Amino acid sequence: MEDTIEVILQDHSRVLSTDRPHPAFSACLGALLTGVYGVWSLFATPGFRRVPWRLKVPYLPSSKDQTLNIMKLLEGRTGRLADLGSGDGRVVFAASSAGFRCTGFEINSILLTYARSKAHWRGVPSGQATFVNKDFWKTDLSAYNNVTAFLAPGVMAVLGEKLLKELPDDARVIACRFPFPDWPQQSSAGSGLDQTFAYDMSSVRSHLRKEPNTAV
Ligand SMILES: C[S@@+](CC[C@H](N)C(=O)[O-])C[C@H]1O[C@@H](n2cnc3c(N)ncnc32)[C@H](O)[C@@H]1O
Repeated sequence: MEDTIEVILQDHSRVLSTDRPHPAFSACLGALLTGVYGVWSLFATPGFRRVPWRLKVPYLPSSKDQTLNIMKLLEGRTGRLADLGSGDGRVVFAASSAGFRCTGFEINSILLTYARSKAHWRGVPSGQATFVNKDFWKTDLSAYNNVTAFLAPGVMAVLGEKLLKELPDDARVIACRFPFPDWPQQSSAGSGLDQTFAYDMSSVRSHLRKEPNTAV
């Protein structure tokens, strides 16, 4: 009988030991997850404290296809370009190599340093690509005739109001993945998550003027 109980206890403890992870493993996993979260939050959140909650947009880089789609919709255009939230600078670099004079607005100082260093390594002159540590919500964008924005669905209506007030009539706006809710598209490129949308300010304004209760 005693033998049987011992056998049962032995079996039970074996089951328990295989089911429960070793404390050292749990500690390592916890440390790893904390580290990953720490690095992620460093890249995704600095500078965000000053931006109101409803306008916060985290970092997510454009895919290669998305960047190509942006450039397709900018074909034939020239002049100054603002990338609203320039991240690691990939859209600014693509546009500056197509001849635009670009400014990347970015509040994440780590991404900003990375983009500036990349511009330095690549030997891109500052007249072609500049990265500024500025909140674009608080910046007058009236000097730009091209604007690119890969942000979040919840901020597009607010951004639309700002751009309507500030951009010149000959400006083109490229929205990535998330279209403006009430603006008529000029054209679009790509599909799914890489889709980008082009809007010409003159057409947007004349469309909105026809809408009742719209002040343009
Ligand atoms: C979705 S990412 C897009 C990055 C880049 N444009 C691209 O396509 O790869 C949005 C970026 O906007 C930045 N951002 C968010 N709010 C901002 C603000 N108010 N002013 C400047 N940059 C902002 C974020 O830090 C983030 O890098």
